[in-house]
Amino acid sequence: MIHAEHLTKRFGELTAVEQVSLDVEEGEVFGFLGPNGAGKTTTIRMLSGLISKTSGTAVVAGCEVGKEADALRLRQQIGILPENVGLYEGSSAYQNLEYFGRLYRMETATMRKNIERLLRMMDLWEKKDVPVETFSKGMKQKLAIARALVHDPILLFLDEPTANLDPEAAKMVRETLLELRKENRTIFLNTHNLDEAQRVCDRVGILRTRLLTVGTPQELQTKLFGHQTVVRLELATEGLAAAVRRRLPSRRVEIVGNDLLVEVVDPDRENPEIADALLAAGGRIRELSQPGLSLEEVYLKLIHEEAPAA
Ligand SMILES: Nc1ncnc2c1ncn2[C@@H]1O[C@H](COP(=O)(O)OP(=O)(O)OP(=O)(O)O)[C@@H](O)[C@H]1O
Ligand SMILES: [Mg+2]
Repeated sequence: MIHAEHLTKRFGELTAVEQVSLDVEEGEVFGFLGPNGAGKTTTIRMLSGLISKTSGTAVVAGCEVGKEADALRLRQQIGILPENVGLYEGSSAYQNLEYFGRLYRMETATMRKNIERLLRMMDLWEKKDVPVETFSKGMKQKLAIARALVHDPILLFLDEPTANLDPEAAKMVRETLLELRKENRTIFLNTHNLDEAQRVCDRVGILRTRLLTVGTPQELQTKLFGHQTVVRLELATEGLAAAVRRRLPSRRVEIVGNDLLVEVVDPDRENPEIADALLAAGGRIRELSQPGLSLEEVYLKLIHEEAPAA
């Protein structure tokens, strides 16, 4: 759905996005993470044809970005929720969507059907005739997402859809994203919210002008930190640690209190070995677990590393 190679954007002296290559598959929710000024918005604007790229290539929804002949088709296939949503405040929710539908030259009956479906989905149908200026931030954000969907795009670019929302409104928007994913739309999502990325994204990319890494949240955690198995014992002893080391010679084993921390590569294969070695050595296991690291830890590690991991 998105194929970018060496995508680069310079604003005069400043390189905002450098040599970004990435692929996003159809039906995927792809999250773009990175600190302020990392180039996330610039990337979305390039991929959606709102600004020109300096160099590199991108094919989005089968259209070549930057090619005049593909520009209109690209615009029809994608929906955008920009950083600043910019609704017509004096107009009603319905009028806002209708205006966009007409911009896309939608056939009236299809447009009306879509508008109703979207407003109902966003829980705004009852408010369809109310001027937008009376809406709360969350309602406006949902309306702006509806607007990005009026022309039934197959690919959605959402630039921080839950920024500035209270937890409840953010939750509503996230649930909406999960609904959209069920419809098999592809979603490219910029976010600062790591918890959100972990919950709704199939894969995430971490950007700091350059793309530092891409993977599923789980893959990133494993890639950067490896796995660790924590065995809570009735009594952790050097003897038990030694028994595990003999069974898995190349792995790091540490005692912390009555916990044994064991570095593992393939937990499905190695955890039974660990348990077996401990039991054979007379250990009494209270609990064996594989605590996951949060995406936040992965993110902070990457962002603060001097030399970005390729
Ligand atoms: N039109 C522009 N002219 C000049 N510089 C720009 C322009 N747009 C963006 N930049 C610069 O490009 C860099 C990347 O900005 P961008 O808005 O893409 O970051 P971002 O990752 O979206 O940040 P944020 O998380 O704050 O939204 C910044 O240094 C910004 O100042
Ligand atoms: Mg931005």
